[in-house]
Amino acid sequence: MKYFIGNWKMFGVPKSINILNKINSFYSKDKNRKKYGVIITPPYTLIESYAKFFKNKKIYIGSQNCYQKDQFSSNTAAISPYMISKVGAKYTLVGHSDNRDEGDTNEMLKNKVQFALKNNLKVVFCIGENKKEKKNKKTFSVLRNQILKVLEKKFNKNKIIVAYEPIWSIGTGKIPTRVELEKTTTFIKKVLRSIFKKKSPAVLYGGSVDGKNIEMFKKIKEIDGFLIGGASKSSKKFIDIIKNYYR
Ligand code: PGA
Repeated sequence: MKYFIGNWKMFGVPKSINILNKINSFYSKDKNRKKYGVIITPPYTLIESYAKFFKNKKIYIGSQNCYQKDQFSSNTAAISPYMISKVGAKYTLVGHSDNRDEGDTNEMLKNKVQFALKNNLKVVFCIGENKKEKKNKKTFSVLRNQILKVLEKKFNKNKIIVAYEPIWSIGTGKIPTRVELEKTTTFIKKVLRSIFKKKSPAVLYGGSVDGKNIEMFKKIKEIDGFLIGGASKSSKKFIDIIKNYYR
C-alpha cells in the first residue's frame, strides 16, 4: 500500500473543496486505486466540512498538527487530538519542521503521538535534517535521534507512518539523489525496526515532490509514498504525480 498525502499548509477556503472533488473523481475511476490511499491535510478550519463531504469516499482527511494534551485545556488557540477526531479527521501530521521551528520539542511530540493514537488518529510523524546538518554529515545521527526520542515500542506501528522530509528540500525544488535517498530510507527503516521489531512502519518521502521528479522517486522501492506540499494545492499537479507514479 502506497500513500499520497497532500499537505495544504496555510491554504484553502470552503470552496477549495473543488480541488478534492477533482482528485476524488480521478481516484474513483483509477484502475490502480487499490494500490494506494489519498489523504489530504487541510487547515483546521476545513476539517469538519471536508471530512463530512468525503465520509463515504476513499479520500481521508487529516490535520496538520495537534496539541500535546488529550482533550480540553486552558491553552488559547490549542486544538487537541480529541477535538480533531470528533470532527471526522482520521490522521494527523506530527513534527512537521514548521512546527519544530516554532518550538515543538521531542517531549511535546511524544505526547502528541501518544494522544493522537489514543484518540484513534493515525499519525504521520515527520523527521528530517537541515542544510547545515546535511553538510556536516549529521543526517543519520539527527534522524536516529528524532525517531528514538519520540517513538516507543508501546505505540501501535500499524497506526504510524514516518515521513522523511529533509528541511533543505521543502519548498525549494531541491531533492536528494536517488542513492542518497535509498540509503537514508533504508537507514530510517532499520532504526524503526530496532523499536518495533520485524516490520517497519511505512516510510514516506516529502520535499518538492512533483509530476516530473516522481519518475526518479518511484524507482526507490523502499519508499512507501509521498507527503506533498506545494503540488497538492492543484488537482492537476497532484493527479499527475499519481499518474506518473503508476505509468
Ligand atoms: P513541498 O512541501 O512539497 O512544498 O516541498 C512538503 C511539506 O512540507 O510537507
